[in-house]
Amino acid sequence: MNNILIKNGLVVDTEWMRHSDILISGSKIKRVAPFIDYDTLPPDTTVVRADGLCVLPGIIDAHTHYHLVSRGTVTADSFREGSRLAAFGGVTTVVDFADDNKVSLLDSLHQRRKEMVPMAIDYALHQGVYKYRSDIKKELESIKRAGVGTLKIFTTYKDVGYLVDNRDELKSIFKDAKDLGLMVTVHCEDDEIISTISASWKGTYKPIDHASLRPAEAEAKAIEYVGNIAGELGMPVYIVHLSSKKGLEAVRQLRMNGVKVFVETTPHYLFLTKEKLEGADGPLYVMTPPLRSAEDNEALQEALVNGEIQVVATDHCSFTREQKLESDDCRTIYPGIPGTEEMLPLIHTFALTSGKLSLSQIVNLLSTGPAKLFGLYPEKGSLEVGTDADITIFDPDCSWTISKDTIHSASGYSAYEGFNVTGKVIMTYLRGRLIMGDDIYLGLNGDGRFLRAKR
Ligand code: URP
Ligand code: ZN
Ligand code: ZN
Repeated sequence: MNNILIKNGLVVDTEWMRHSDILISGSKIKRVAPFIDYDTLPPDTTVVRADGLCVLPGIIDAHTHYHLVSRGTVTADSFREGSRLAAFGGVTTVVDFADDNKVSLLDSLHQRRKEMVPMAIDYALHQGVYKYRSDIKKELESIKRAGVGTLKIFTTYKDVGYLVDNRDELKSIFKDAKDLGLMVTVHCEDDEIISTISASWKGTYKPIDHASLRPAEAEAKAIEYVGNIAGELGMPVYIVHLSSKKGLEAVRQLRMNGVKVFVETTPHYLFLTKEKLEGADGPLYVMTPPLRSAEDNEALQEALVNGEIQVVATDHCSFTREQKLESDDCRTIYPGIPGTEEMLPLIHTFALTSGKLSLSQIVNLLSTGPAKLFGLYPEKGSLEVGTDADITIFDPDCSWTISKDTIHSASGYSAYEGFNVTGKVIMTYLRGRLIMGDDIYLGLNGDGRFLRAKR
């Protein structure tokens, strides 16, 4: 059996930080103690010194689109590339998405699971629901039995067939989800606001116009809409990739009305502004919802610090530079950017520069929080004895510059090119096995496991 002692790292969980030793035995955490004596170790134990390093539960990216087939093309990072770049980012679990083929949710789920077999890190799935059908409760039951704990709903993308636009039908899906204990997550942009603006638009369709064509008001209105449905049913709702101050204000209003709203945001809405959409590289920064203003960044940063945001995830949806630059018309540029690998260093750098976010909060936002919300805890998102030995060893002092040459996405670019960050992942363990160490990738395709949500 594989025995590893991680010695004298700064072990961080959501409660506290302390210098501790962690003994891994096989795929599980066997002991956590301030000092584990060498004399007590099994004979073949490998000792890994972690002096000066942080030891975190494996990071979870709860919003990824690896190998997304969309708009007649496919994203750059498939499951092999996605697993590899995730390992470099200290990410040991992702929660990706199964599309809805509108015939059978279970078949859609099985299809996605089959595609994901090459994964080298663990993964769970959110199930898209793009169409109401009269027997949908049975379908939802079947995907729950198959291990899915969350649904993904869109309030936009009518043009590509993702929108459930009848309120009663949407409410009925929410009600079924509540009865079955499934979490409903929603991409919030009001389709009507977007189509009204678009119908009277006299401007150009440059990348920068993307921000005007899909304004923050659309996000706020959709949040209010789905929040009210959840409120009427007395159930929670999870808002994916919150991008704006107006959206945040809508969340606050719902919470004041007693609705339980969970919020996810992404590094790009925290640290990038729509000015990135100007200039020749503008298409590289097109994603939906669009980038907003510095004021929006600040509002979301403040919400992060205050505990108003529960999860940071990336919405990793990477197209190559060439794919992105095929068009400079914001209606046809493939939407989405890479981000899984940069997430932890970016959030850690914000924590250092603002002085307002602790390592424990980072662990909560990037690991424990999503693990709990998506039914993966405590096997994932914790360093408790008996759970999966998913461990990220992180040098909090290492300064480096993000660039296409220092990260591993097959997209060939980073949206954070030139960002100086502090904090680097040194080693990533998945279930007791080193999958990245000293800049060498050791992941095994096919070794990733599908995680059944236990909501
Ligand atoms: O532009 C984005 N975010 N692409 C990924 C799909 C989505 O809407 O989340
Ligand atoms: Zn989305
Ligand atoms: Zn997404």
